[in-house]
Amino acid sequence: MGRSSGGRKEWGGSPSGQLGAGLARFGVRAPCWARGAQRFAEGVGHATRTEPPAGQASNRADASATLYLHWPFCEKRCSYCNFNKYIPRGVDEAAMRACLVREAQTLLRLSQVKRVTSVFFGGGTPSLASPRTVSAVLEAVSRAAHVPADAEVTLEANPTSAAASRLEAFRASGVNRLSVGIQSLDDAELRLLGRTHTAAEALQTLEEARRLFPGRTSLDLMFGLPEQSVAAWRRQLTHLLQCCDDHLSLYQLSLERGTALFRRAQRGVLPAPAPEVSAEMYRAGREALREANFRQYEVSNFARNGALSSHNWAYWQGGQYIGVGPGAHGRFVPQGAGRDRREARIQTLEPDNWMREVLAFGHGTRKRVPLGELELLEEVLVLGLRTDVGVTHQHWRRFDPHLTLWDAFGACEEVKQMQAQGLLILDGRGLRCSWEGLAVLDSLLLPLLNQLQRSWGQGPDHPSVGLRSEA
Ligand SMILES: C[S@@+](CC[C@H](N)C(=O)[O-])C[C@H]1O[C@@H](n2cnc3c(N)ncnc32)[C@H](O)[C@@H]1O
Ligand code: SF4
Repeated sequence: MGRSSGGRKEWGGSPSGQLGAGLARFGVRAPCWARGAQRFAEGVGHATRTEPPAGQASNRADASATLYLHWPFCEKRCSYCNFNKYIPRGVDEAAMRACLVREAQTLLRLSQVKRVTSVFFGGGTPSLASPRTVSAVLEAVSRAAHVPADAEVTLEANPTSAAASRLEAFRASGVNRLSVGIQSLDDAELRLLGRTHTAAEALQTLEEARRLFPGRTSLDLMFGLPEQSVAAWRRQLTHLLQCCDDHLSLYQLSLERGTALFRRAQRGVLPAPAPEVSAEMYRAGREALREANFRQYEVSNFARNGALSSHNWAYWQGGQYIGVGPGAHGRFVPQGAGRDRREARIQTLEPDNWMREVLAFGHGTRKRVPLGELELLEEVLVLGLRTDVGVTHQHWRRFDPHLTLWDAFGACEEVKQMQAQGLLILDGRGLRCSWEGLAVLDSLLLPLLNQLQRSWGQGPDHPSVGLRSEA
């Protein structure tokens, strides 16, 4: 989830369909709001405040964040992928490394974060970077903040760039968790996707990864591919369940504008996957994994033996994250510049421009948007509901001590209807989707967000009402 972006898999495919236009900023796939933005100077001063709600400045020594690093290069363009990636003739890795280190240092200083709880190297194809780059970044982060000895450090690995010797070198450089892009176990599907590996090579990489990172190897698998049948998908999953480790991410193919697959589907050369077939695959996948003792802890993510990704979990819990590298996204309070509100930040997309900016300014932040209190609550709601735990009362209070979940949603007719349909639960623990509800999350979000806006605006005593215009 790397959310490329805050690790996220912030850019992971959404199995429950596309988010509506009003929710686009939560999908974060297309960082369009970065375009046309102005460069700005970033002062680094100090702010003071005591015990503020999460999302506002905190000077406590434990101010923490996760860190996402985006490596923007790939060997070849996959036919479905519109992530921020480039196919270079050659990469000046020493220059790239110096800029990644410099930007990490600048943003950590700016955030005044004292503790980095996890690091995620995503891409692009970060397994094409040298292990030396990985260790240089990790050393810089450890010099600037406390990184606990057991902090999760994940690297996304493509089968063709992840020979056993390289995986070993990544492990020596500090990586302790691997996410392998398997995508499919069918060679014809892999060719259609434009992947550079066969199913046998993917399985070989998975085996090496498990040997080197036992219990800490994840794999990405896609479904809903053109002409893929439910039976064929089930067979792939059954095969993988015999050789996978304790974590899987399942992504429904989304046909993205600007990709080769999208153009072929538009020309009618390739049948676009039928939504009901994809929905059936998602259902079958969830059931197979449940039977194999995997917990579905998020819309696309499954773990057993407690092997949840702590990096992605922190992201869905609305934690601060620092995004380093071309096109990376971040969300943190820039306390070092004297500001006290969390900001959504995006780095310059194109690597050469990004490097020039880092050399000139210490960072390549292209756009920053201070988040209003309501916007932050919306994010907490949308991200939290992606998880099986949902949004607990305690968690919500950290972001809004005044408006409870009961106040916000308890009396809403639409919410009562969703509860009656067995899709949503509001109880003493908090607000969350049922098993059935998680599969149709996107259709629940719009009414919930509308309701949040209504109830938030209606609270005449709500202390934050006057701050809304700041966003
Ligand atoms: C962008 S890739 C980066 C990791 C690595 N380069 C790879 O290809 O495995 C991260 C994951 O996003 C998923 N992904 C990318 N584009 C997607 C799309 N259009 N629809 C669904 N999933 C997608 C893939 O499963 C992929 O493993
Ligand atoms: S290797 Fe990964 S990041 Fe690169 S084009 Fe393919 S899916 Fe996208």
